[in-house]
Amino acid sequence: MSQPLTELFPTEDNIPEQFKITQSIEQREYLVGGELKTWSGNLNPVLSPVYIKEGGKLKQKLIGSTPLLTSTESLAALDAAVKAYDLGHGVWPTKSVTDRIEHVEKFLVAMRSQREEVVKLLMWEIAKTQKDAEKEFDRTCEYIVDTIKAYKELDRNSAKLIEDQGFMAQIRRVPLGVSLCMGPYNYPLNETFSTLIPALIMGNTVVFKPAKYGVLLIRPLIEAFRDCFPAGVINIIYGRGRETVGALMESGKVDVFAFIGTNKGANDLKKLHPKSHRLKAILGLDAKNPGIILPDADIENAVNECIMGSLSFNGQRCTALKILFVHKSIVDVFISKFNEGVKKLKPGMPWEPGVSLTPLPEPGKVEFLSDLVDDAKRNGASVVNDNGGEFSETFFYPAVLYPVNRNMKVYAEEQFGPVVPIVPFDEDDEAIQYVLNSNFGQQVSIFGMESKRVANLMDAFVNQVGRINLNTQCQRGPDTFPFNGRKDSAEGTLSVADALRVFSIRTIVATKSTDENKQIISNIIRNRESAFLSTDYIF
Ligand code: G3H
Repeated sequence: MSQPLTELFPTEDNIPEQFKITQSIEQREYLVGGELKTWSGNLNPVLSPVYIKEGGKLKQKLIGSTPLLTSTESLAALDAAVKAYDLGHGVWPTKSVTDRIEHVEKFLVAMRSQREEVVKLLMWEIAKTQKDAEKEFDRTCEYIVDTIKAYKELDRNSAKLIEDQGFMAQIRRVPLGVSLCMGPYNYPLNETFSTLIPALIMGNTVVFKPAKYGVLLIRPLIEAFRDCFPAGVINIIYGRGRETVGALMESGKVDVFAFIGTNKGANDLKKLHPKSHRLKAILGLDAKNPGIILPDADIENAVNECIMGSLSFNGQRCTALKILFVHKSIVDVFISKFNEGVKKLKPGMPWEPGVSLTPLPEPGKVEFLSDLVDDAKRNGASVVNDNGGEFSETFFYPAVLYPVNRNMKVYAEEQFGPVVPIVPFDEDDEAIQYVLNSNFGQQVSIFGMESKRVANLMDAFVNQVGRINLNTQCQRGPDTFPFNGRKDSAEGTLSVADALRVFSIRTIVATKSTDENKQIISNIIRNRESAFLSTDYIF
């Protein structure tokens, strides 16, 4: 790092024209029952993690504000969703697959036209680099395309009658009811839409509350939501979680709770629902994914994957590598190469070409990370990379900590930021015991070449985590792969196809295969008398 950290922040004049926000965006609109309502109450200021140099001082950039709705408006949104679902008899849950797909396709076209604006807001609201913000937007569009494809396939596979033990039946997937969808601030578009879109396409109605940060970026899409879906099918609310979402859960009218966030938040909210057996939860939660680097690992590859795995988007990915177990025989060379790699990561503002390290959006995050570092130092670790742990305002330079042990907070706590704890080990069992005793169980990465040793580790982890990565960092993609976790890391499995399943349930129409019943079934199908009992399908 050649410049002092305070120099990373720009003056207004340094910001490229196409990324400037010259006027604060005051959002008062929210969507309920197909209408954009205007909120006249208090607003929540939206502060960018980016500070601006002004007259020799640094000032956090205010980019806008969003409505601070109360439980009254949230419950009105819920009522609109309940009405649109109408106990499963509403227009949306009874629409044909073809019709619902048409609505989603129309939305996708409208969404694509807002790419530039959404990407810009992703950059300002959570300091995601331009490249990653564009990737998030495009990946989300692709996810919608794949969801449509998967839904057609699901429909094709259900368009037949089956016969067994003297029965004939048709099995189809139908919606569950009213879904509450909430996403995280690190992927405020992608992760939210990876539950929201499957929920909608399967015929559920939705109340959607955007993430804590990354809120304004939904505004350019709000008209598209209003125009592309029937009234009440999608409702968008804003405000503090405890005042808005708490009331929704307490009402007992939420059938599906799709939440990506902390396990504490999920636990607290789930407990508010009065009928726990009627609530289906789909949760993506905390993780502390370890990388295990064996003595014969391809060191260049392991270092590159671990740098990307622990520091892309400043380590703010649920799938990030959050602790590295490095074999004692190679730990010195690993650390020296790792630090060389970290030095090459460019710190700066999200719009700067080639930038990797950017400011952090969560208030208090820099203090939290500094505390983790200080605690590790008190317990015997050192910061082993140049400038590690230095900070200015919202910017925190990555800290590589070594040697880390179980007495330190960072050993077990999720840092969700640019701190890389390295634990030296002798026996593979030390890494195995870490995973076995962890509260989390999302993924693990193993770096090594000797197949027998790798296989032993894999087998030790298969009943602990949802994905074991060999010689590659932990990650969610490709989105067709199942994404889940054990223990406090998740509930349910998401993937393009799995998401359609979690937002639906199978219903069967069955009868004994007598001549009379066959005749009735045949009449229904031939005369197209039922929307459910039908052998029609779409390509
Ligand atoms: O924050 C959790 C995301 O689902 C991670 O997705 O592995 O593609 O970054 P990713």
